[in-house]
Amino acid sequence: MLSGTGDAPQAEMAWGASPSNELFGHLADGTEVHRWTVTNGGTRLRVLTYGGIVQSLEVPDRQGRTANISCGFGSLDDYVDTSPYFGALIGRYGNRIAKGRFTLDGTTYQLPVNDGPNSLHGGDKGFDKQLWKTVPFTRGSDQGLVLSRVSPDGEMGFPGNLTMKVTYTLTARGEWRIDYEAVTDKATVVNLTSHTYFNLAGEGSGTIENHTLELAADRYTPVDSTLIPTGELAGVAGTPFDFRHATRIGTQVRVPHQQVVHAKGLDHNWVLDKGVTATPDYALTLADPASGRVMKMYTTEPGMQFYSGNFLDGTLEGSSGGLYRQGDALCLESQHFPDSPNQRSFPSTVLRPGQTYRSTTLHTFAAR
Ligand code: BGC
Repeated sequence: MLSGTGDAPQAEMAWGASPSNELFGHLADGTEVHRWTVTNGGTRLRVLTYGGIVQSLEVPDRQGRTANISCGFGSLDDYVDTSPYFGALIGRYGNRIAKGRFTLDGTTYQLPVNDGPNSLHGGDKGFDKQLWKTVPFTRGSDQGLVLSRVSPDGEMGFPGNLTMKVTYTLTARGEWRIDYEAVTDKATVVNLTSHTYFNLAGEGSGTIENHTLELAADRYTPVDSTLIPTGELAGVAGTPFDFRHATRIGTQVRVPHQQVVHAKGLDHNWVLDKGVTATPDYALTLADPASGRVMKMYTTEPGMQFYSGNFLDGTLEGSSGGLYRQGDALCLESQHFPDSPNQRSFPSTVLRPGQTYRSTTLHTFAAR
């Protein structure tokens, strides 16, 4: 059953006006950070103007009971001080760039290195730590938010003023769609994604190991010990990366395979069979047998980083007051492949003046 039917409208009445916004906290310099709430079709999405962070995402289970399936914090200070990118918009380059360095049109650019020897998720002050202008909209039966920002030339070492628009839409069927758009005034590299930590049983309910995942990918990009792709596109057959049929995650993260050891679990980019597409095409199904919640993702992107929450270490207190331990949440980041600026055989992440970067990812929710 799709969310958006059954009990959903009652929940929405209780949830109140949408879109609406409230003060969430202040940054150290006094700047206000707001939290926007959008509800539609039985789904409720809460987004911060800081980092475009999805602070909460509520969807019904098979009994029609809603729970927040997105892990994160209850306070702004935690997002500023200690967040492992919970719920955030990621850029200018999602995932890793080897040694934080790449060459474009003969010029070499050095980015801040913030993950061992590499640059991760756009550097130490990426888009996840920036304020986004946020404007609500209602269009037909859709509701949502348009987040916009200009990343100045040279920010975190990247060339070109990058003018961005990211649209979060909730449809009348309770689907969550993200549309990214960007233009630049100098050649640059762009790879935007969303870093939501999912637990379909509900935030704070423990491990995701019993979730099953199906990924429409025959290949993945193996990595070195610093999680930079070797350049090979390896087959998943006979490896713990084989999710071509719905497979329990907890089993795969324990397979003694060198790639699993490198990442302390799964933290890899799958090469989606569909490749780059003009409209969102099927990528995966994530399901939680206990609650019955099922999420499907469709994307225009050629890759999907599946991170099994390996580095959650029991030190961060989640929004409902419990500590997050290893594997208490997982990320599914639609994207171009890691380190593409240094890998000629990977689909290009270069954006030039006159071109428009476009990327769309759709999440659908159901319960069975
Ligand atoms: C990466 C992980 C990293 C995490 C940060 C993921 O996108 O693949 O290696 O630890 O982000 O929280």
